[in-house]
Amino acid sequence: MNARLTPAAATNPELDAFWMPFTANRQFKANPRLLARAKGMYYTTADGREVLDGVAGLWCVNAGHGRREITEAVTQQLETMEFAPTFQMGHPIAFELANRLAKIAPPGLDRIFFTNSGSESVDTALKIAIAYHRARGAGQRTRLIGREKGYHGVGFGGMSVGGMVNNRKFFGSSMLPGVDHLSHTLDHEHNAFSRGIPQWGMHLANELERLVALHDASTIAAVIVEPISGSAGVVLPPAGYLKRLREICDKHDILLIFDEVITGFGRVGKPFAAQAFDVTPDLITTAKGLTNGAIPMGAVFSQRKIYDAFMQGPENSIELFHGYTYSAHPVACAAALATQDIYAKEGLLTRAATLSAPWENAVHSLRGLPHVIDIRNYGLIGAVELEPRQGKPGTRGFDVFLKCFERGVMVRQTGDTIAMSPPLVIEPKQIERIIETLGAVIREVE
Ligand SMILES: Cc1ncc(COP(=O)(O)O)c(C=O)c1O
Repeated sequence: MNARLTPAAATNPELDAFWMPFTANRQFKANPRLLARAKGMYYTTADGREVLDGVAGLWCVNAGHGRREITEAVTQQLETMEFAPTFQMGHPIAFELANRLAKIAPPGLDRIFFTNSGSESVDTALKIAIAYHRARGAGQRTRLIGREKGYHGVGFGGMSVGGMVNNRKFFGSSMLPGVDHLSHTLDHEHNAFSRGIPQWGMHLANELERLVALHDASTIAAVIVEPISGSAGVVLPPAGYLKRLREICDKHDILLIFDEVITGFGRVGKPFAAQAFDVTPDLITTAKGLTNGAIPMGAVFSQRKIYDAFMQGPENSIELFHGYTYSAHPVACAAALATQDIYAKEGLLTRAATLSAPWENAVHSLRGLPHVIDIRNYGLIGAVELEPRQGKPGTRGFDVFLKCFERGVMVRQTGDTIAMSPPLVIEPKQIERIIETLGAVIREVE
């Protein structure tokens, strides 16, 4: 019998019922890391230890934990109206929120479709892209282009355009047909230890021309990329790369989708990475920081021309056969509005720009430590890549993650890369503490 299929011993009966997502369940349940409370920059574990949050929960708690304004807005909304449908009905704060978001969006992306997560935002954007072409009489444009190492959530659409091997290989041929991928842009040989955006690699965008030549532009609906990939271990766009993608998409009438589920809402020093890189896509997918992680919610920002293309036919016919029961859920809208108020009041959508230089220096101070083979940063994002152990990829990264947690700092491990994305309210002393702890742990872990 395959040893891997042996049922695990019940390690902890109280913990076994919850099948945890993206988690080594057996390892966790044998040595649980339980978070019980959170305030500001810190979690408190169930056994009362303070843990400095170096990843904004999961790249979402941009304004820090336990924000009273959000709690109050959510409580009030629950008391006023806990739910209202948005299919053929509406409620005021959904429109208010869409208007607020349109104001911080890049120019033209002022039509907002609400979802409940990043995965749903991605699948929504892909469907809008395909249906948009059909609405314009180009229904043969159904092909989607993603990128290696891309992460676009776990729906069948997002998984198919995504490029992370483990997220795909278990699901065999159950991928969308007609998907192709660009090469990723991670290159140690040319770009290791680049500070900020790497200079080498813009030409990789020209691969899109190759894929257009292969498939013909008339079959391609959209290209989807994360301006900065987070989940694959922080992969940055080479200088000029995103602009080049935009040019090629324009030339061939292909829609460009930026997946800004992690880069949206201030992470890179502007509201969106589209603005930081001065490249305007046709659709932007978001979630996470939209509500500071307090209530699940996502949003797709669409160019007005896309929305307008759907607004045809009889006025009482539904234009887009897509939506979720909880699209624009009133409680999520309340959380999002309170979050946007905090971002505006505290200047959080641009604060990462002022912190990015000290953050960059701090992260790059780890260069030269044992096993460190690359360091990458942009805005308030940082990554330290460690050399994998021979034949045991990911184990060194996991050990570093665990030890950091034991020492009171939460970072994120993906493979042998340690990623950091602290709440945007972080203070310089806390940056120091994250980096000191990570450095000490890297020195110790064999
Ligand atoms: C770029 C990107 N897209 C999509 C997702 C999926 O979001 P969710 O987990 O909310 O479905 C993530 C999550 O980390 C992400 O980083």
